Amino acid sequence: MLEGQVVVVTGGAGLLGASICNGIAREGGIPVVTDVDIDRAEQVAGEIRASGFTAHAVALDITKGTQIDQVIVGVRDRFGRVDAVVNNAYPRGRNFGRPVEDVEYKDFCESLSLHLGGYFLVSQRFAVAFRSQRHGNIVNISSIYGIAAPRFELYEGTSMTMPVEYAAIKAGVVNLTRYFAQYYRRDGLRCNAVAPGGIRDGQSEVFISRYDAMCGNKGLLDATDFVGTVTFLLSDASKYMTGQVLTVDDGWSL
Ligand SMILES: NC(=O)c1ccc[n+]([C@@H]2O[C@H](COP(=O)([O-])OP(=O)(O)OC[C@H]3O[C@@H](n4cnc5c(N)ncnc54)[C@H](O)[C@@H]3O)[C@@H](O)[C@H]2O)c1
Repeated sequence: MLEGQVVVVTGGAGLLGASICNGIAREGGIPVVTDVDIDRAEQVAGEIRASGFTAHAVALDITKGTQIDQVIVGVRDRFGRVDAVVNNAYPRGRNFGRPVEDVEYKDFCESLSLHLGGYFLVSQRFAVAFRSQRHGNIVNISSIYGIAAPRFELYEGTSMTMPVEYAAIKAGVVNLTRYFAQYYRRDGLRCNAVAPGGIRDGQSEVFISRYDAMCGNKGLLDATDFVGTVTFLLSDASKYMTGQVLTVDDGWSL
């Protein structure tokens, strides 16, 4: 589906990012695994290469415009093209995830700046490059918490919560998607989003059983379960889709 396409993935060393990079490679594309954690990014790219595919790792902090520009130039120099970017990184402010009553103004602003601000900056810089070549694709990773209200009963009696910053960030990502899709719609640039449900990652049994009961066939999903939707949005199979949000949550948000 992605033969020869060069796709930059932010946060490519993480749980979902590594899975997306693997999926891109398996569809014939070349994933550029970018992350602030370059050691882990190198590891992810190395594992993909060890499976017989092409992959490349680059250090990138999504909150640094000059680094984003350097990645675009570096990828074009190395591969002769850059076709798409997946905004997937997950920066968290220092006090991210406190109960809503304890979130201070500066905490709220810090996480929004890093995460939503970073997604904006990546979109802005790549859109300029994509417009100049009249071809490009942005896929943003939002969340079910960007399209639906939290269900706090899931977290009762656990150490987890659904952070208020996260709800604001992921809802912001949804309309950032529509904004870029509309602004660049005549410039050969598409912009869509995926809203994944919860990913299995060592959560407590009580949380898992409550969460699973709200879903259909599986409940919490594996990171690999989202990859087909991302590669679909990166591919020509979705050529005339732009500004859309695809929810993948096994029915949680119904
Ligand atoms: N895990 C879930 O249940 C879940 C559910 C829905 C949506 N998501 C979304 O999926 C995306 C990936 O989440 P994940 O669970 O794989 O997270 P993760 O923490 O496993 O990976 C995130 C990666 O982002 C990197 N990162 C952090 N700050 C960065 C920065 N400033 N610049 C570049 N890279 C940075 C980290 O080093 C890490 O490798 C996020 O957008 C998240 O909101 C996750």
